[in-house]
Amino acid sequence: STFRPSQPPASCRRRIVMFPMPFQGHITPMLHLANILHSQGFKITIIHTEYNAPNRSNYPHFTFRSISDRFSEIPAAELSASYCIKYLNNYCLDPFRKFLAELLADEEEEEKVSCMITDAAFYSTQAVADELGIPRLVLETNSLSCIVASDILLSLSTLPKDPEALVMEFPPLKLKDVGKGNTDPKGMGEVMVNTRNQMKASSGIIWNTFKELEEYALETVCQDYRIPSFTLGPFHKYFTASSGGLIEQDRNILSWLDTQAPKSVVYVSFGSVARITESDFQEMAHGLANTGLPFLWVVRPGVVRGSEWLESLPEKFLESVGDKGRIVKWCPQPKVLAHPATGCFWTHCGWNSTLESICEGVPMVCSPCFVDQPINSRCVCGVWKIGVILEDGFERDGIETAIKSVMVNEEGKEMRKRINSIKDKMNLSLEKGVVGPHLVSLLQDSNGSADV
Ligand code: UDX
Repeated sequence: STFRPSQPPASCRRRIVMFPMPFQGHITPMLHLANILHSQGFKITIIHTEYNAPNRSNYPHFTFRSISDRFSEIPAAELSASYCIKYLNNYCLDPFRKFLAELLADEEEEEKVSCMITDAAFYSTQAVADELGIPRLVLETNSLSCIVASDILLSLSTLPKDPEALVMEFPPLKLKDVGKGNTDPKGMGEVMVNTRNQMKASSGIIWNTFKELEEYALETVCQDYRIPSFTLGPFHKYFTASSGGLIEQDRNILSWLDTQAPKSVVYVSFGSVARITESDFQEMAHGLANTGLPFLWVVRPGVVRGSEWLESLPEKFLESVGDKGRIVKWCPQPKVLAHPATGCFWTHCGWNSTLESICEGVPMVCSPCFVDQPINSRCVCGVWKIGVILEDGFERDGIETAIKSVMVNEEGKEMRKRINSIKDKMNLSLEKGVVGPHLVSLLQDSNGSADV
């Protein structure tokens, strides 16, 4: 069931300026949030970088301003996630301030800019908010649990030595996950500290999650951050129409799914950023084929290091699999997960993918790669118990066993029951409606000067 927001109250004629980080996993939730707020009567201006610019024709109801970022001039070798985020924070700051100042000074503008919502990782924008006297709300695209767990990790002075040891302050997390979490003070660690500090200085945090899923983490964040937190997720369930992504989707795949038996297909995708080695890719192929189950595998061009696309598949792989397996470059993922034929999702546990899987009651096989993904996967397997982790990486026998445990075994049936009960709670939470009066008043003008 899809929740439809109620008609906007006539009193909310305000403009919100939104500024997403230009990566698929960040832009999509920001645009979904923009649609939700637009349906509540707000006018929306999206400020975006030229790099990964959103497709404006999908959003004729928004105003767009583009920042020239010279991103394409960065040498490929420098393009680590932390480098990109720091670069964008520095480079975009002045143009962002200029656009905003112009908008505020524009006498012709009918709707007053009442607040900005920027990606949590655009930490430098808090200074602009303070300078121009505009409240800043933050969109955090990661899970609440991820923020709580990484706060704990950042605060620990010593860590246990055994890689299998549980981190006592956040039991589902193992020490070996921490390295993947990137606490490097010059890299992602610095980004995390800046993000946290400027989040605490903001007027509130909007989360793409729902309270019933992460109640413990929500309480912890409310205590630690001392600013309002709003759990409005899952954003993508508000509207039926797909807003499209940065990569063209292969929609023919839905008719192939129509020909498959209910809950029979293994869906595989590692999101828009993660990359794997050639040998991991080959193990994946063997593991998938050895299950004997039908599969739909998204191999994003560039996901395999050193390959354009499918060159490193094992010899005669496609012939031997025949119509039992499909490989595509990109697909309409939420629709694939919602399809009755989809039986499990082998995922890297990016937060959007994890949430989309939960929303459709599809249990997971988890291969986390970095940053938030190991934490999300521990929640999937250790807290919500709706999936298994491939602890030993990419190895064909382990892959086959893990997929079968979710698809075929009793264990998988129990996971399916648990994930369906979480899905029911999510539907109830959406039906109640989530954009409450507290958030609306903050968005209209948290300085209290709005004429409402
Ligand atoms: C990044 C980080 O890697 C992730 O850990 C963080 O939580 C958000 O930012 P990404 O790796 O792309 O995101 O993963 P994820 O958050 O899962 O987002 C991927 C999005 O791409 C999902 O919304 C998914 O529906 C979409 N997608 C994926 C498609 O539309 N089609 C596909 O074929 C594959």
